[in-house]
Amino acid sequence: MEFGTKFGNPVKTRSQCVMVGVYENHLLTPMATLLDKASGGYLRKVLKRGDIKGKVGQSALLHDVPGVNAPRVLLIGLGNVDNADESLYIQIVTSAIAALKKIPAKHTLCCILEAKAGDKDLMWKTRRLVEQYFAGTYSFNQMRGNPGESSLQLETIDLQLVDKTDAATVQQAIFDAKAVAIGVATAKDLGNTPSNICTPTYIADEAKKLAQTYDSLTTRVLDEKEMEKLGMGSFLSVGHGSIQPSKLIVIQHKGAKPKDAPHVLVGKGITFDTGGISLKPAGTMYEMIYDMCGAASVFGAMKTVAEQQLPINVVGVIAAAENMPSDRASRPGDIVTSMSGQTIEILNTDAEGRLVLCDALTYVDKFNPATVIDVATLTGACVMALGSHATALYANDDTLADNINLAGENTFDRVWRMPLWDAYQTQLNSAFADMANIGGREAGSVTAACFLSRFTKKYRWAHLDIAGTAYKGGGVQKGSTGRPVTLLTQYLMDRANEQTS
Ligand code: BES
Ligand code: MN
Ligand code: ZN
Repeated sequence: MEFGTKFGNPVKTRSQCVMVGVYENHLLTPMATLLDKASGGYLRKVLKRGDIKGKVGQSALLHDVPGVNAPRVLLIGLGNVDNADESLYIQIVTSAIAALKKIPAKHTLCCILEAKAGDKDLMWKTRRLVEQYFAGTYSFNQMRGNPGESSLQLETIDLQLVDKTDAATVQQAIFDAKAVAIGVATAKDLGNTPSNICTPTYIADEAKKLAQTYDSLTTRVLDEKEMEKLGMGSFLSVGHGSIQPSKLIVIQHKGAKPKDAPHVLVGKGITFDTGGISLKPAGTMYEMIYDMCGAASVFGAMKTVAEQQLPINVVGVIAAAENMPSDRASRPGDIVTSMSGQTIEILNTDAEGRLVLCDALTYVDKFNPATVIDVATLTGACVMALGSHATALYANDDTLADNINLAGENTFDRVWRMPLWDAYQTQLNSAFADMANIGGREAGSVTAACFLSRFTKKYRWAHLDIAGTAYKGGGVQKGSTGRPVTLLTQYLMDRANEQTS
């Protein structure tokens, strides 16, 4: 799919379709006004007839509009101009893409950038439009016996500009949006791939392939023997019950000087979480193919960063293991020693994410990181607290938390900061070990974060609990959302800009 820019009169376009917005109360945008005038008031006539009222979600396809070169005019409802804020804009582009998908035009001229989006600029509006195009046309068909061909006919979308001098800005936004969309789609694909295929070894192989595709990337995979040498007794305990060997996958993007401190991303990569001996109930266990979505988002973000050739150093670390019950699996009550030297009493083998992450977080200190962000489908409690709209954010540094929050608000891949107060730490007290791996019924997402905080004291760190945001559960509607690739990559783009400005 190609995106371009166009300037001039949309009436004369050679496109097979012109997509243009109309607000409620018969209010036409400047581009719609041009089309209306050329057609002798045809658009206004259609609006008066009431076939489209301009509400968000509405669309109307007109054929052979007099005076307009394109054979189709697709009217898109923009809602009430007085409420035209950024969240409305996102709804508009979502419905515009859905309407466009149904039309057999290979080439469309899109005049939607003139829709208002609160105080957001053209760069922002372009990013959302292009990213939404790829999100709205994503499908996962690799696992079907006959994957078939995509029914999509679209090949090019030209974005109509009001001002010629905006072309460079819009081109840059298209470039960034495409790079982000590639990362998001990659994260979705990895997330959706079932656990009989997407094993720790599979992710490691994909990471090696990634490094072959991009010059800036190198991949190193640590196997169980190497992890044992490093003393990762906590991480290794999780994979013991599985025939699939655990892997610690390190993907490095070198975009700056070698001595520049990298930004490190760490992803939870449990390729299937049965709960282990503390077995999960059968009902929704199939959702646990998504327990590697943190890893998938780190993988996707690395791809985006490489696509963009961001002038910073980034390290992506994936802690991959499968949590299975067997005669070799951890038992509730077992005590393991983490790479940090701290011992952990495993009171519940289903609290395994923190067990792999704590050793990965200890490991990344060797990079002398500028910041570390871990991403994990860590707790069901997080889903109860925040649902599917906000990712839970925890941080030991306010600037880092603010920067992540800003990137989230900007992209609408939003987070909500939660407390990491010392008062919660006592819930992790253990009778025999330095800590327990569970903190009781109360504040489950918080105590999981508190557990991780004991391994991240040496650097600026944030934790994202994406249990509610990484995927949609249930039936034929299920699927990975690709979150928080957009958030992570915006955070990294902001760091790159901060450095050059
Ligand atoms: N992967 C789960 C968390 C999860 C649950 C993600 C539901 C998405 C949806 C995690 O490993 C887990 O099982 N956590 C336990 C922790 C508990 C035993 C302290 C949980 O949330 O129940
Ligand atoms: Mn679990
Ligand atoms: Zn899990």
